[in-house]
Amino acid sequence: MCGIVGYIGKQKAAGIILEGLKRLEYRGYDSTGIAIWQDGHFAVAKKVGRVANLEPETAKHRFVGTCGMGHTRWATHGGVTDANAHPHVSSDGQIALIHNGVIENYSSMKKFLLDKGYTFKSETDTEVLCNLIAYHYAKEPESTDPDESRFVISVRKTLRHAEGTYGIVVMAADHPGELVTARKGSPLILGIGDGESLVASDVAAIVSRTQSVVYLKDGEIAHLKANTFSITTLTAGDVSPVIDKVTWSIADAELNGYAHFMEKEIFEQPLALENAMRGRFSEDGSTALFGGLNISANEFRGYDRFMFLACGTALHACMVTEHLIERFARVPVECDYASEFRYRNMPLFRNTLFFVMSQSGETIDTLGAMREAKRKGYKVLAINNVVGSTIAREADGGIYQHVGPEVGVASTKAFTSQLLIGAMLALYIGRMRDMSFSEGVEMVQALKRAPDLVRVALQQADHIRGIAQRYTQYRDMLFLGRLSLFPIALEGALKLKEISYIHAEGYPAAEMKHGPIALISEQCPSVFLVSSGEMFNKVVSSMQEIKARKGKVIAVCTESCKLPEGLADELIVIPECHEAVLPIVATIPVQLLSYYMAVELHRDVDKPRNLAKSVTVE
Ligand code: F6R
Repeated sequence: MCGIVGYIGKQKAAGIILEGLKRLEYRGYDSTGIAIWQDGHFAVAKKVGRVANLEPETAKHRFVGTCGMGHTRWATHGGVTDANAHPHVSSDGQIALIHNGVIENYSSMKKFLLDKGYTFKSETDTEVLCNLIAYHYAKEPESTDPDESRFVISVRKTLRHAEGTYGIVVMAADHPGELVTARKGSPLILGIGDGESLVASDVAAIVSRTQSVVYLKDGEIAHLKANTFSITTLTAGDVSPVIDKVTWSIADAELNGYAHFMEKEIFEQPLALENAMRGRFSEDGSTALFGGLNISANEFRGYDRFMFLACGTALHACMVTEHLIERFARVPVECDYASEFRYRNMPLFRNTLFFVMSQSGETIDTLGAMREAKRKGYKVLAINNVVGSTIAREADGGIYQHVGPEVGVASTKAFTSQLLIGAMLALYIGRMRDMSFSEGVEMVQALKRAPDLVRVALQQADHIRGIAQRYTQYRDMLFLGRLSLFPIALEGALKLKEISYIHAEGYPAAEMKHGPIALISEQCPSVFLVSSGEMFNKVVSSMQEIKARKGKVIAVCTESCKLPEGLADELIVIPECHEAVLPIVATIPVQLLSYYMAVELHRDVDKPRNLAKSVTVE
């Protein structure tokens, strides 16, 4: 949520910042802005809309300065206007600030500042924080310690009063060539380049300039100059920074000939699944192995129950995982919305191991739920994609998804890799309990075939595009499935609504009779997810109930399903597969259907309205 980029070095900063902002646009895209220090003042350009709208403005400014910062906004306080866009400059012109997060006590700060004569041009909490830094900056005498300058001290003093969340970058008029950056609850990464320093809310913005990064932690303040940087804490303690190497390159975050990142990421899934499973099966080929759990097999065996917490698409992956662990390992599993778990104070069983799933590892609701579980004394493992994310660092251990950057706002390859890891966990836990060697070998073989089965499912793309073209006039759709395909129905409905803005709901197929069937008419088609197992006849009955009410049926079926003649208006056939792989393969058609429908409707597929890739505010 909100993209942040700061640069300081020998090059002209504006081009580097704009380039970074384009790569971060998926984090927030209602307005953008840039501030460069030049000719003794902050030159600022801000514009409602995408980075492309800002470019002509920046051209007018002829930015030449070598120190600056830029921001893509996802509005929280204050509407989407040029004035509310960041950067904000304090009313005395001394401080410029960009901010990701929410300052909860900004009203009392604003009252204090109004009394002191500060004025405001926007409705944002950010402008208040900016002026409070200016207030402290004006009062603070210059110090003799270059790392502990009046600039750093005034930011620290301000942040001690700030309640809420923030990732900020600050520039100060009397300290040109310096940036101060700090975080609490919003990710920030420092890039340590050759004679230049960068800061961003996401590695994607800086990886073209350096692969050496420092993940800033909550409560830390970094002071950046072109050739040096130092980190302290809010309580002025020193921090010894650890420089990490980013393992992916800029090419991983480029379109490479695809029309959209979502399309690229859908078609990347066979490779993504191979990467997610690489090196994670035992030598005897009967179970899964995970390097980073930090829990011995013995301890793992001791848990009586697992609890999975996540949001959105990741929660759907948890629901499939629940089904698979209960089915193959016979251990009770519960899933909950992270945002609800955090506040509802449910009675918990003692011997429970918690898992949180999050592609970004920054989702504030999931992070909050994880902290709540830890506070109550539970161990929490994280399944997450972004290396070094806050959730990954705060968890007791975990499993990285290893699918590379996911840029499309609608999650695709991250989801199927979460399904794969969920299936591998079911195998791992099952093999510690009742699952036999031969069942384990069979499941490992099946999981290894998943990438090829996904390749086969992707061959239906043109056929699905044809179906999509025939269904764009509908305003409502149902997605229906049973058992492990019910969460895929939820996921299909979520994908469709978030990128095409067509209203869609997912239900267990039989549940449809208990209310949603009232929606069925010629105007409301249903997508059924069907496999040839024990539920086949029951799902066929549900389809017949829809047909009897003139509803159109799009059936996604495994090869051996023999549907009664004429029951499905549209048929999408997927390969027959093991129960643990079925949800992965069945996901492909619903992703493609949503994608092509959104394209037909000329939606902005990678940046759907009102959404942001990583939701770092509550
Ligand atoms: C939908 C989607 C969201 C995310 C949710 C959690 O396509 O991407 O529903 O799944 O915001 O995000 P992460 O997994 O980053 O915690």
